[in-house]
Amino acid sequence: KTILPLDIRRLLRSVGRTAEKNGFQVYLVGGIVRDLLMGQQNLDIDVVLDHDGIAFGKVFVEKQGGRLVAHKKFGTAVAVLPNGSRIDIATARSESYDHPAALPKVEFTSTRKDLARRDFSVNAMAIALNTPKFGSLLDFFGGQNDIQDGIIRVLHDLSFIEDPTRIFRGVRFEQRYGFQMDSYTENLARQAIAMDLVGRLTSVRVRDELILILAEDSAWSALKRLSDLGALTNLQPEVVRIDAKLQSIFKSIQNTVPRLNYYYAGKSQRWLLFLMAIMRNLSEQKLDEWCNQMRFKKADVQILKEGVLKTPVVLKKLRSASKLKNSTLYSILNPLAQESIEYIYARSSQRMVRQRIDFYLANLKDVRLNINGNDLLESGFKSSPLFSEVLGKVLVVKLNGLVRSKSEELKFARKLLENGK
Ligand code: CTP
Repeated sequence: KTILPLDIRRLLRSVGRTAEKNGFQVYLVGGIVRDLLMGQQNLDIDVVLDHDGIAFGKVFVEKQGGRLVAHKKFGTAVAVLPNGSRIDIATARSESYDHPAALPKVEFTSTRKDLARRDFSVNAMAIALNTPKFGSLLDFFGGQNDIQDGIIRVLHDLSFIEDPTRIFRGVRFEQRYGFQMDSYTENLARQAIAMDLVGRLTSVRVRDELILILAEDSAWSALKRLSDLGALTNLQPEVVRIDAKLQSIFKSIQNTVPRLNYYYAGKSQRWLLFLMAIMRNLSEQKLDEWCNQMRFKKADVQILKEGVLKTPVVLKKLRSASKLKNSTLYSILNPLAQESIEYIYARSSQRMVRQRIDFYLANLKDVRLNINGNDLLESGFKSSPLFSEVLGKVLVVKLNGLVRSKSEELKFARKLLENGK
């Protein structure tokens, strides 16, 4: 009651009621159970059904409204409810693997077996949702004890061999919660790394784990721990140098970015800033090669490259001792993505540079003209490519404080057009 909001609690009750009425057993599973036991909020609702999760999903959305997206092959579905909440629905399953690091084959099975196939004891608990036993905990593998003791423990010897991404996950949970792998688990992780099983993962899976690690508040310590375990070697040593310099850049990003985000409509993707820091010494060619290999999204590559390649140039311009006109400052920073600007800020230790970026964000970033091409047409000028050039010039004088009102803007634009420019 103190951790989950009322609407989520109601939703969980309703899932349990619907299951009970229709002859299903339903359990809340995964990260939300772990976090509830740790007193932390997590709103990712994952449920497992003892049989036919898709059939349950259909009944549930019929009752609640919303829609169901089902994946028959896996026996899973996502219910998207009218208020936008999502429930991930699965059918209890066990998995077998064709070869190490392969994606699993799926077989349907009991809830206990479903929990037994999971990564760590702290993630392998379930909470019953059916009405009569709503809220009771299923903990076959000592997950609750491990939470109390701060331990990340695999459920069986082959866990990392079947799925080496669990090494990244284990480290992520360790650092996020201040937990530690027990020595048995850590040895298994080291053995899997020594067998180069991380190297046999597809780059896309490694990329996704890297993004998740870099999205954590504890990104630095997780990266350091992975490096100490030897899990990063095949990310190329020249790419990832986990040293004191990198640590200080991470710290600076962490200290400065939250405040800068207030200038924008949304938060930046902080993992991209951390990645800029990791990749900061790479040439454009190496950067392209690495991004291709890891198959990052085009838009992310663009931002990453901008941050890495433009930061030295922009910092140099912003360090210039002479006075910068507002319009010049604008032309330096306006083309850059939010992430790049924030990264540049974090990389600068000079007060003047930071003041300039702050000034841009507070006073210039959102400056827009009050006039547009239509106003020029209405003033009797014929549509022409000159319009955008003229509007650009009006923006420059506006940024520099020389025109203020709409009528001043129009007057200035007319003068330029009358003079043929
Ligand atoms: N899981 C697993 N092995 C994996 C990935 C996931 O056993 N390689 C199981 C775990 O039980 C996990 C659950 O699937 O708790 C859900 O996975 P996911 O949503 O990726 O992780 P969360 O535990 O919810 O972690 P986070 O808080 O980072 O989202």
